[in-house]
Amino acid sequence: MERVNKLYNLPEYQEAQNIIDEHEADRVFCRHDLQHSLDVARLMHIYSMESGANLDKELIYASALMHDIGRALQYTDAVPHHTAGADMAEQWLPKCGFTFEETEDVVEAVRDHRQIYQDGASLKSLLYAADKDSRPCFACKARHMCNWPEEKMNLEIKGQK
Ligand SMILES: [Fe+2]
Ligand SMILES: [Fe+2]
Repeated sequence: MERVNKLYNLPEYQEAQNIIDEHEADRVFCRHDLQHSLDVARLMHIYSMESGANLDKELIYASALMHDIGRALQYTDAVPHHTAGADMAEQWLPKCGFTFEETEDVVEAVRDHRQIYQDGASLKSLLYAADKDSRPCFACKARHMCNWPEEKMNLEIKGQK
């Protein structure tokens, strides 16, 4: 996991996460902190193994770490976070030793992580599912104010698919 740790420790990664954390300090809804990224990564890994896709663990963790990091630019410059994050991934991943093809895979997953893909095997499909499944709506005190439609909410503990 050397390349993933390099990514996490990049000064620009840390700076972006700090901006997000500062802007979300008083947020009542789901936060986009390191814990969320790790929750997504772990679910992706479980789904990857269960589906037989067996995707590379570093690509899973890189996608999860990058998928919401663009929120820093969304907060400071009103850039949509999926496109900001895709641009950041394009610049940061090669610095950490990811190949051109690996970088493109992660960029695509980050850019498309708000759209539904249900092939159950690609990086972006697993990212979408894990991102949505990671939120414990059933225990959220701000649920009545959330803009997620009821049918998208996780209203019970599901266990793995
Ligand atoms: Fe997101
Ligand atoms: Fe997310």
